[in-house]
Amino acid sequence: MAEGKDLTVMEDHVTKILSSYEGTRAELVPLLQQVQEECGYLPEEAMFRIAEFTGTPESEVYSVATFYAQFRLTPMGRKRVMVCRGTACHVRGAPQVQEAVERKLGIADGETTEDLEYTLDTVACIGACGLAPCMMINKDVHGRLTSKSVLKVFETNGGEQGEG
Ligand code: FES
Repeated sequence: MAEGKDLTVMEDHVTKILSSYEGTRAELVPLLQQVQEECGYLPEEAMFRIAEFTGTPESEVYSVATFYAQFRLTPMGRKRVMVCRGTACHVRGAPQVQEAVERKLGIADGETTEDLEYTLDTVACIGACGLAPCMMINKDVHGRLTSKSVLKVFETNGGEQGEG
């Protein structure tokens, strides 16, 4: 939830989170999880403080944060684009759709655009297999996509409206 929050607010959040832990190494993962929940990602400063607090080398905190797919080291964009890579979507052209989205946004899977507008992820089945291949932008589902029509989703409505 931290996009746009300034450093002081983030630091306050981290201080509050740390105050409910004892500072042991075993708390490393739960701490990272809670900071990410509060901030939306793991800011470098927060990882530094967690390292200090738990007596864990910074390099180890960083290794843990990069090992688990659940952790993000960069802020989320305002719009989260989730291209489905489930089987139904895959066989109907999801890889081409994914490629077109990556080209359009200039980012790869798991990345965020510099203007923090979009974060791109591939996800397992989003439950709209009948519309395969499909993707979601925030809560809106866009289906029966092609590498051309997916561009229209971004160009005509900025990816804000679903087609059901
Ligand atoms: S496989 Fe893509 S929505 Fe189910």
